Amino acid sequence: MPPIYQVSTYKQDGVGGLRGGYEYSRSANPTRTALEQCLTALESGTRGLAFASGMAAEDCVLRTVCSPGDHVLVPDDAYGREPYRVVRPGVRGLGTEPRRGSRSRTVAAVRARLAARKSKLVWAETPTNPLLGIVDIRALAAAAHEAGALLVVDNTFASPYLQQPLMLGADVVVHSTTKYLGGHSDVVGGALVVTDAELARAPCLHPERHRGAWPARSTRG
Ligand SMILES: Cc1ncc(COP(=O)(O)O)c(C=O)c1O
Repeated sequence: MPPIYQVSTYKQDGVGGLRGGYEYSRSANPTRTALEQCLTALESGTRGLAFASGMAAEDCVLRTVCSPGDHVLVPDDAYGREPYRVVRPGVRGLGTEPRRGSRSRTVAAVRARLAARKSKLVWAETPTNPLLGIVDIRALAAAAHEAGALLVVDNTFASPYLQQPLMLGADVVVHSTTKYLGGHSDVVGGALVVTDAELARAPCLHPERHRGAWPARSTRG
């Protein structure tokens, strides 16, 4: 098992002379790196990032991908409406439109809404907490990409053991690792995993987490 590195700052051989690539634990910490590599492998992604909570991970995607005025489609039953609360106008200055309607009509409803108004992101949670609604990830990814939007899937409830959204076309996977990935109700955490090379290079997914815009979607898929 990788040890838990309970340090803030690492020994260095002068300015820029890092030993093993670590300098300061906010930027990178070997324990967190091990967790991120594990989550990336479990989700079949190319880059993963661990957070102090699931909501912190959600906040990072939304604020990095979207600019004020951008439109986001959020399902009305996603995690007790928390993502909607994060993106609602006035909180982040982002225009949002929660999807409504029965689960069976979700992809069709999303297509109609995407045709009516350009969206930057389509948000999905499948199964949802707590109503256990499900959606066809592959169909939703196709609908989002045809409209030039990214698909974010909250995979907290299924876990990568049962479902790997990136393999079905999603661009970003979000987790509250507080739940099944943690497994013992003893720690709060969150994660993002991406597969797209361009997304993997986005500033928010670099260890330094510099400010900067998430680049536009690549042509993948
Ligand atoms: C599906 C889902 N997404 C996100 C969250 C938020 O995660 P956290 O409580 O770790 O911030 C939760 C928490 O219950 C959840 O169930």
